[in-house]
Order: sequence, then structure tokens, then C-alpha cells
Amino acid sequence: MRGIILAEGTGSRLWPATLAVPKQLVTVYDKPMIYYPLSTLLLSGIKDILIVSTPQDTPGYQRLLADGGKWGISLSYAVLAKSRSLVEAFIVGSEFIGNNHCASVLGNNIFYGPGLSESLHKAATLKKGARIIACQVDAPGPYGVVTIDKNGKACDLGENPVQPESGYAVTGLGFYDDTVAERVRSLTTSGCNQPGITDLNRTYLDDGALSVEVFNQDMTWLDMDTHESLLDAARVVEAIEKRQGIKICCPEEACWRMGYIDDGQLEKLADEFRNNEYGYYLAGLPDSRAAASAP
Ligand code: G1P
Repeated sequence: MRGIILAEGTGSRLWPATLAVPKQLVTVYDKPMIYYPLSTLLLSGIKDILIVSTPQDTPGYQRLLADGGKWGISLSYAVLAKSRSLVEAFIVGSEFIGNNHCASVLGNNIFYGPGLSESLHKAATLKKGARIIACQVDAPGPYGVVTIDKNGKACDLGENPVQPESGYAVTGLGFYDDTVAERVRSLTTSGCNQPGITDLNRTYLDDGALSVEVFNQDMTWLDMDTHESLLDAARVVEAIEKRQGIKICCPEEACWRMGYIDDGQLEKLADEFRNNEYGYYLAGLPDSRAAASAP
């Protein structure tokens, strides 16, 4: 399975903070925003990832992440004009996707919780169709909303509904089969000028090919579009990291735990951040694993 990070958008709700810096490079407590969705893909077992962004913003991501080689993964880039809809990322990424299945994640989403990696691996076993991830939230109005029948099947979808049919918000993480680019093309040629993720998901629903995985309420799902949600997310990350002495969505750690890099390569990465707390954390990981597995 391949992965796509949708990192386009103007970030206008965060202006002026995001006038010169792409939104997904803004700091969320101790790391750039894009590290969070990137780690989500890594935890799903995906190591071949395309970052889709605007022509202006792409060099920033390349400076930060390069080709992923030092983390033992493969990162590539594709550009999407600012005026295009984010689902067109599947069209510019169609060669990258090829005959593979593909996970897509919005660059402003954070997922964190017990059993996340297992749930993501399960969702990534998709054989045909699409699988969306939903979370119950108090106020689903600003999101895509999915209605789920008593058998756990998705039976309706709405985008920003005034009176949501359910409390299940559609998160920015989804898994799609290799018909995804074709479906987006058919949306754009059928007069739907700015199709969104919900329009894409609806094509699968109409074909009886949409499944939904509901993350339970132990799972934290956050998105960051406004100063308030950005600060809320940073505070959640700070509270958990300080309390538990861990890092949430640290891609270097994810790559090391997945076995893409060994202790020596991790040490080199830690050395790049000498004299900083992020570097100390990376450097301490092998010892903390050894201590945890000691009898
Ligand atoms: C987008 C999607 C929406 C989804 C949300 C998740 O909304 O359109 O269906 O629920 O992401 O973060 P946006 O962030 O563009 O408002």
C-alpha cells in the first residue's frame, strides 16, 4: 500500500502565521505538523509516501524531509495548483499509486491512542473499495459526517451538515483501492467543479464499496486549522509527552521501531540534534527498549 499526505491549502485561517510558512510546517509543540500524519502512515505499515502540496510550498517539505532515505523510507513530491481541489491529489498522484491501494491523510490531522498501530494495520488490509475512519465527536458539523446502520455499515454521508444525522465525523484518514484516481476524474468531468473527499467517498458508497472503521473514544483525533485548535493540539501533545516521557508521532522513532533503521542510524539522527531534547529522546530510545524488555 502507498500513502499520500494532502498538504495543500492556503492555511488562510492561520494567517498571518502561515503567509510565508506552509501550514503543515508550523510547529505543534515540539515538531512540525506534518510529522503527525506522516507518523500515522508509518504506523499503518506504509513506507512509500507522496506529499502533495502547492508549487510554492513543496520546497519547504523537501528541505525538511528530502527523499526519506535517512529514515529508511521513500518520500516523493507532487504539486497541485492552489486553485485545485485537494482530492485532485489522487490524479497528480495516479502514477505513484499505480495498481496499488493507497492511504491518504490530511496534513493537519493527529491520531493518537492505545492500539493505534494495530487498528491502522487492520484498516490497511483493505482489498477492494474504500475504508474511511470515523470518530465520534461532540460537534460533527464542520466535518464530513457518516451515518452508520445497526450492522455497522456506512449508509449515508454528508459534508458540513447543518443538522448532522450522526455524531460520527469522517476523519482525514482514508484507505482507497486503485480506482480512486479514476473516480476523482469522473467527478471533475461530471460538472462537480471542486469535489471534496466526501464526494469521492460517496462514489464508493453508491457502489456499495464503502466500509467504515470507527475509532473508539480512547483514541484521540485532532485537526488543526485555527489558532485555537492548533494551540489545543499542542497542549494535548505537551501534556502527554511531559507526563509519560514519550514523544507522540515521532517519525524517526516510528521508522526505528518498524525496523527501517537500526540503532546506529538512529544514533546518527540523534546526533543531528545534539544538545536538544528531541535529540536526547532519540538517543535514549535503544536503552529504554532494552530496559522495557528486561525481565
Ligand atoms: C476535510 C474534509 C471533511 C473531513 C475533515 C477531517 O475538511 O472535507 O470531510 O471530515 O477534513 O479533518 P476541512 O479540513 O477541509 O474543513
